[in-house]
Amino acid sequence: MKFAIVLFCLIVGVYGKTTEKPKHKPHNSNKTCEGVHVHGKLHKRHVIMNGINRPYQLAIYNHEHKIFFSFNAGDDTQDTFGIAYVKINDTMPTEIQGIKNGFAVVVDEHNKTAYFGGNEGIYADNLEKSGNLKHIVKNRDIWDLQYFDHHLYFIQYPSQRLHKYDFKHKNVTLQQHIHEKIYQFAIDGEGDTFITTRDGLFEIKKGKNDRIPYQGPKQFRAIEVNHKGVAHFCAKSAIYVAHKENHTLTEIASIKNIFGLTFDSSDNMIYSNPHEIVKLLPHDCK
Ligand SMILES: *[C@@H]1O[C@H](CO)[C@@H](O)[C@H](O)[C@H]1NC(C)=O
Ligand SMILES: *[C@@H]1O[C@H](CO)[C@@H](O)[C@H](O)[C@H]1NC(C)=O
Ligand SMILES: *[C@@H]1O[C@H](CO)[C@@H](O)[C@H](O)[C@H]1NC(C)=O
Ligand SMILES: *[C@@H]1O[C@H](CO)[C@@H](O)[C@H](O)[C@H]1NC(C)=O
Ligand SMILES: *[C@@H]1O[C@H](CO)[C@@H](O)[C@H](O)[C@H]1NC(C)=O
Repeated sequence: MKFAIVLFCLIVGVYGKTTEKPKHKPHNSNKTCEGVHVHGKLHKRHVIMNGINRPYQLAIYNHEHKIFFSFNAGDDTQDTFGIAYVKINDTMPTEIQGIKNGFAVVVDEHNKTAYFGGNEGIYADNLEKSGNLKHIVKNRDIWDLQYFDHHLYFIQYPSQRLHKYDFKHKNVTLQQHIHEKIYQFAIDGEGDTFITTRDGLFEIKKGKNDRIPYQGPKQFRAIEVNHKGVAHFCAKSAIYVAHKENHTLTEIASIKNIFGLTFDSSDNMIYSNPHEIVKLLPHDCK
């Protein structure tokens, strides 16, 4: 977890003091036109919750419109994290108890289960009768969690290696084929894998082993795949999608200081910055 601290101190040091200003549509200063352009289309910022202390990772349970997030639970100099959620119209988040330094969060919508990763492993929470955590992986420090194709993947700290949890056998396998130390990992809808390392972003085609380097940003905060299977890459001040033909990233939205990203059931983006969780909804401005 120490690495995360260093990373986030850096983020805070550089960006913590800047406040995000909504973009204006050119030639129009009318307030109703404020927002963010996503794929060139104006979107309105709908603030779901503010006043949160660094919401790092996001995951949504669309069935109940419940947004889970990890956050800084101590003061700025401490390595303490927690996991909480907000629902529609909530004025305060609800913290999930019983996870030591909860940092990673992911939701399996189909099976109505949330998974939380912290210093002491992974916990499963059945969202139909929430609050009864099952400690499914023990004695591992969890950095990041992903749920793909009925499997739970995680990056362990401090090795930064990718592991896979097998629900049937209830055991963990090191993913030998990803030999690098990685920061983020995602498998998109075509079964292709993206990894980020200290050298940047690489794609590994399904069934292949060679690493295809990507041009563009080298540092990322998150990679999240939407319901259509499209991987979204969050760098310091923009969200990108991949052009797999020529291995470049295309910026789809310019947003300062993104921490986490998730998608509602209609694939509208929900992102976090150092103190807010924001949903972007298409907005017509005449
Ligand atoms: C902004 O637009 C709305 C509706 O289009 C209009 O009613 C309002 O007067 C405009 N405000 C300014 C300051 O131009
Ligand atoms: C949230 O608040 C709005 C406005 O007060 C209301 O119309 C809506 O039904 C509420 N939604 C839920 C899920 O409570
Ligand atoms: C999730 O649901 C699928 C299909 O219903 C099932 O095959 C699978 O075992 C479930 N996974 C877990 C982790 O419960
Ligand atoms: C997981 O359990 C299965 C069944 O007991 C076993 O075949 C497999 O080798 C185990 N894998 C690891 C990494 O221990
Ligand atoms: C990569 O391909 C996309 C779509 O075909 C194109 O828009 C983009 O300009 C290309 N980028 C480069 C660097 O060639």
